[in-house]
Amino acid sequence: MNSTITGIGTYVPEKIVSNSYFEKIVDTNEEWILKRTGIKERRAVNNETTVEMARLAALNLINRYNKDLSDVDYIIFASTTAEHKIPSLASQLQYQLGIKNAGTIDIVAACAGFIYGIIQAQSLISIGFCKKVLVVASEVLTRYTDYTDRTTCILFGDAASVALVEPSLNCKIYKPVFGTEGEHGYAVYLSEFADKLNSKSIKNTNKIVQDGKKVFKWAVERMSEKFIDLLKLNDLHANTIDFFIPHSANLRIIEAICSNVNFDKSKTLNSVTQYGNTSSVTIPLALDLGIKNGMVKTGNKLLLIGFGGGLTYAGTILDWEI
Ligand code: COA
Repeated sequence: MNSTITGIGTYVPEKIVSNSYFEKIVDTNEEWILKRTGIKERRAVNNETTVEMARLAALNLINRYNKDLSDVDYIIFASTTAEHKIPSLASQLQYQLGIKNAGTIDIVAACAGFIYGIIQAQSLISIGFCKKVLVVASEVLTRYTDYTDRTTCILFGDAASVALVEPSLNCKIYKPVFGTEGEHGYAVYLSEFADKLNSKSIKNTNKIVQDGKKVFKWAVERMSEKFIDLLKLNDLHANTIDFFIPHSANLRIIEAICSNVNFDKSKTLNSVTQYGNTSSVTIPLALDLGIKNGMVKTGNKLLLIGFGGGLTYAGTILDWEI
């Protein structure tokens, strides 16, 4: 049984954080941020939690697509910002949405989490275990941002997105690529209780720490390879792809991948310019922007690749039918 996304919903907090704000707190300037990252602004929560943002994104989906979520049979929740270790974010959301009964699981795959969720949803449907899977991504990254570090604080924002995955007769989620290079785990981490990671000393601050240059270089190199691998695996040519939606970490990463694989960058969608790096949420958020501005249309083929902390990545292609 094939499947695809049959509804999408998003939520972004009202509070806008402009580039000029950072001039007041660290040694930076608006021009540098825009030029080196492509980010114009990002959002920050007031009191919203990770689950509350997800709930509001789900309500957005229900209202836009007239979908009933009460019979969802599985919730996969991707996030790195859970307020509680137990119960899971997915089980909190099941209760809050009044879903009668569903398998619930959280996944931590950093910025690749949404795509891992889509791959798992497709697998559950294809083997006949599920009929309606809700894939959720929600992140309150501003809570874990070090506002004394100019190389990271300018990047992150808060947002949530949900996608419903259901069986489809005409459309499908194609064969995925995924992988991990755990030896580079220290390149992006968020640690609270340990002083070492893979035997290396780390900052135990409960804030995001990264080697931005390393992540940048790795992302461009590996995602360029994986873009080509995905097409080969599915016997598709790049000219059949209507939109490429990579993780929105930095606009220059997206441009460099396009240049490496010779893909027209005007056929990419990003959310980084408007919302900054929202980790697992960037891909569905970019897709939603593309839907709202009329670019993404029924019958389009979308190539999605997430990458980030782990270091891990996951990508797939899907037919857009709504
Ligand atoms: N304002 C002004 N200058 C800054 C700055 C800021 N906010 N942040 C860094 N700089 C400085 C550096 O200190 C460095 O100065 P130096 O030459 O005097 O040492 C200079 O700018 C260049 O630094 P560099 O690290 O080469 O900048 P960059 O162009 O690579 O941009 C990142 C830095 C972090 C924006 C970029 O590497 C990035 O986006 N990486 C990926 C991060 C990521 O995706 N993380 C999440 C995981 S998905």
